Amino acid sequence: MSPHPSRIPVASTPRTVPPMAGDDNTPGASVTGAGAPERAQSNGAVTVVELVDVAARVGGRPVWSQVSLTVTAGQFVAVLGPNGVGKSTLLKILLGLQPVAAGTVTVLGARPGRANTRIGYLPQRRAFDAQTRIRGVDIVRLGLDGHRWGTPIPLVSRLLRPTAHRQAQQRVAEVLDLVGATHYAHRPIGQCSGGEQQRLLIAQTLIRDPELLILDEPLDSLDAPSQAGISALLDTICRTRHVTVLLVAHDVNPILAYLDQVIYLSPGGAVTGPPEQVITPDTLTRLYGTPIDVLRDRAGRLVVIGAPDAPPAHHPRR
Ligand SMILES: Nc1ncnc2c1ncn2[C@@H]1O[C@H](COP(=O)(O)OP(=O)(O)OP(=O)(O)O)[C@@H](O)[C@H]1O
Ligand SMILES: [Mg+2]
Repeated sequence: MSPHPSRIPVASTPRTVPPMAGDDNTPGASVTGAGAPERAQSNGAVTVVELVDVAARVGGRPVWSQVSLTVTAGQFVAVLGPNGVGKSTLLKILLGLQPVAAGTVTVLGARPGRANTRIGYLPQRRAFDAQTRIRGVDIVRLGLDGHRWGTPIPLVSRLLRPTAHRQAQQRVAEVLDLVGATHYAHRPIGQCSGGEQQRLLIAQTLIRDPELLILDEPLDSLDAPSQAGISALLDTICRTRHVTVLLVAHDVNPILAYLDQVIYLSPGGAVTGPPEQVITPDTLTRLYGTPIDVLRDRAGRLVVIGAPDAPPAHHPRR
């Protein structure tokens, strides 16, 4: 029995998304550069993220310590753990947004923050008010050029840089198609459902053709069908485009079938490994501090039962 029943074969050819030709100052142009060593190999053996004996402090308080882990190219990895244990902190450390208290961190062969143009990042808790007028297509476009021009002004950019504008439009259309959001992308994003908004935001993270996707609870607040749809979409992106996916989740079930590795964070460190080795009743009960069962369904898939959505206290210890 395969632990990855829905795995899609990894593409052995380079990605087809073209760089933004004539726009060499954009981070997107460097992303697709042929010289990047991580891009040259596609066998999954290249190290994308490495932590060696790392400790994190937030607001002067220790959060977790003694964390060592490796994520290799093309892996689909979940970061799990109770509320407040420091999952978002780990992601911020990888992005160079937060320093480490001890240890060494390498991301895409560089110090955290140095390779951020090759990373797509979806922060935690994004919600658009129903009155938000900006269209989904503009949100996606912001991922391409928002850092340079602020909110894009279509007429100005079309007049000043017609070729770049056309290429940007084409790129936006490509990622919208990839995530299946084309038909609602021209609506105000406040009028899109939670799942539709999530697809648009994932499209934004993809627009610069990242090698690493870092997603903080992308399944949060979605119903079961939307969770399944987004999980399958991320798996497709991971397998067919060889993008490494590092995703924080509270409920592991929607993504369980797709995972190569799980990272269970606890104050004392992290337990990492393939899901079938790490997702065991003993490990989860110890980490969450509450009884948790792990069952197999008829298809042989692991099902976690009893993981609390909101544990009564942070850092439960036994
Ligand atoms: N700005 C801050 N100042 C002080 N403490 C903070 C700050 N931000 C986060 N913390 C604390 O750092 C710890 C780790 O926070 P973090 O957001 O990384 O946890 P998390 O595992 O992502 O939690 P959740 O599952 O609720 O998203 C928590 O105890 C939190 O209260
Ligand atoms: Mg968090």
